[in-house]
Amino acid sequence: MIESLRQEIDALQQQAAAELDQASSTEACEAIRIRYLGRSGRINPLMQKLKDVPKEQKAEAGKLLNGLKQNLQKNIEQALKNYKQAEQDAQLLKEAVDVTLPGRSLPLGRLHPITQTLYELYGIFAEMGFQVYQTREVESDEMNFQMLNIPPDHPARDMHDTFYTKTPGVVLRTHTSPGQIRLMHERCPGAIRAILPGKCYRFEQTDASHEWMFYQIEGLAVGQHITLADLKGTLTAFVHRMFGAERKVQFRCSYFPFTEPSMEVAMSDKRGGWLEILGSGMVHPVVLKNGGYDPDKYSGFAFGMGVERIAMLKYGIDDIRQFYGNDLRFLTQF
Ligand code: DAH
Repeated sequence: MIESLRQEIDALQQQAAAELDQASSTEACEAIRIRYLGRSGRINPLMQKLKDVPKEQKAEAGKLLNGLKQNLQKNIEQALKNYKQAEQDAQLLKEAVDVTLPGRSLPLGRLHPITQTLYELYGIFAEMGFQVYQTREVESDEMNFQMLNIPPDHPARDMHDTFYTKTPGVVLRTHTSPGQIRLMHERCPGAIRAILPGKCYRFEQTDASHEWMFYQIEGLAVGQHITLADLKGTLTAFVHRMFGAERKVQFRCSYFPFTEPSMEVAMSDKRGGWLEILGSGMVHPVVLKNGGYDPDKYSGFAFGMGVERIAMLKYGIDDIRQFYGNDLRFLTQF
């Protein structure tokens, strides 16, 4: 009797050992524990047999069975411990942070190409002694037109498709020129050398070269000895600084109500053609007088340029609408 029990115990022990060998996770070990030591595990039937063992062999059989149980418990415990450690290590490794990896950089914003162009223009004119003067975008009809020698029925008004407001006599400025009058009022009788940048508005159909909102930079120099040569020298230097010293500069007769004489400035392109870039002239005596200066003692020159046009020429952009379309594929190129 005891012999057959001993064999069964050995067989069970070997089988459990083999299964533990195969097990490779805490889960598998747990399953083995239940299979052997659980309430209806495989050790139970052997325990049942104890009551059939003859009295004098009971003590030994009990020892054997207890030995089996303890052995199994110990081996399973050990295996569980090993795998638990391994699994924990693996988990830790998986969650490990490599502190030597370079950080992920945040996408940085950048300046809009028009802002960049404005800054470049400020720099060029600053070196020639021009201050930056900001004036209002909502203007009176008087400043936007009349003080600039454009009376109510003047044909030049046709070129300025004006945004009117509900308040009579108040418009969105169609150009930066009204700032000339405001600046003269502020500085008279002092000398002036300033650029006036800012947004302008025109009620126009939008196309590749027109936007209803655009930037201009106005220039104004007023003093007692300012001549046409100053205007030509300043604007030639500007073109060379902005577009390169190889550019030729052409001054063409033109007409603006607020300058006399008036000139358009063009520069040579690489194919032997000419690109018009701005309007300019000697400040009209009426405008000087409207600014508070005596035109017999003072003279001045003025110019005005479209900043988008300058940027388009500089960067080879063929459609002004690109600037305000908010397409990052375009904007991130600058
Ligand atoms: N104000 C003009 C425009 O918007 C541009 C201009 C031309 C400004 C000649 C000037 C100038 O100061 O002298 O079309």
